[in-house]
Amino acid sequence: MSGYYAPEAYGELTDGIREILIPAEEIESRIMELGQAISRDYEGCNPLLVGVLKGVVPFIAALLPAITIPIELDFMAISSYGPGSDSERGVRLEKDLSSPIKGRHVLFIEDVIDTGLTLNYLLKNLRARKPASLKVCTLFNKSRRRLIEIPSAYVGFELPNLFVVGYGLDYRERYRNLPFVGLLKPEVFQPSGE
Ligand code: PRP
Repeated sequence: MSGYYAPEAYGELTDGIREILIPAEEIESRIMELGQAISRDYEGCNPLLVGVLKGVVPFIAALLPAITIPIELDFMAISSYGPGSDSERGVRLEKDLSSPIKGRHVLFIEDVIDTGLTLNYLLKNLRARKPASLKVCTLFNKSRRRLIEIPSAYVGFELPNLFVVGYGLDYRERYRNLPFVGLLKPEVFQPSGE
């Protein structure tokens, strides 16, 4: 039983969903497992968890209380630029970490790894600062869309190569607040007449 409302309660947002792919309960229980694994693996390390805004917010909010060891938290923000196609997309840092990470055990937290371009840029950037270790925890993984291989120590769920939203994942900034992951109806992203 999930601590959230039933899907119908999200009214207009639920109307845009064709099918629920991962129910809220499953996400919550998988996040508890990830938190337990992180607590075990980083015991005595005081890791720094780094999230990249904004999609990671619901995941971080649920993951923190699932971790039972001392941790610290920081955020980065990036923007993409350049032509529309994935392979030519560039990434620019908009908000940096608030303190140095040299010698720290850094765990990078993502909501989704898709092409891998964002993380490839961010991991290179962070590696140059000489952390003691640098690993990745992603709630969702779209491995079939990968252009650059990214090693992930912790993965919550594998997602199909489809337009999915919810639990931080957006379509034009909407749907992030759904507590489940759902498949978007085609008419939402391909309105007739557009
Ligand atoms: C999402 C996600 C990752 C990135 C992954 O962020 O949070 O940072 O895309 O995609 P990639 O592997 O193809 O680079 P997005 O740019 O959608 O911003 P958001 O977190 O604000 O939704």
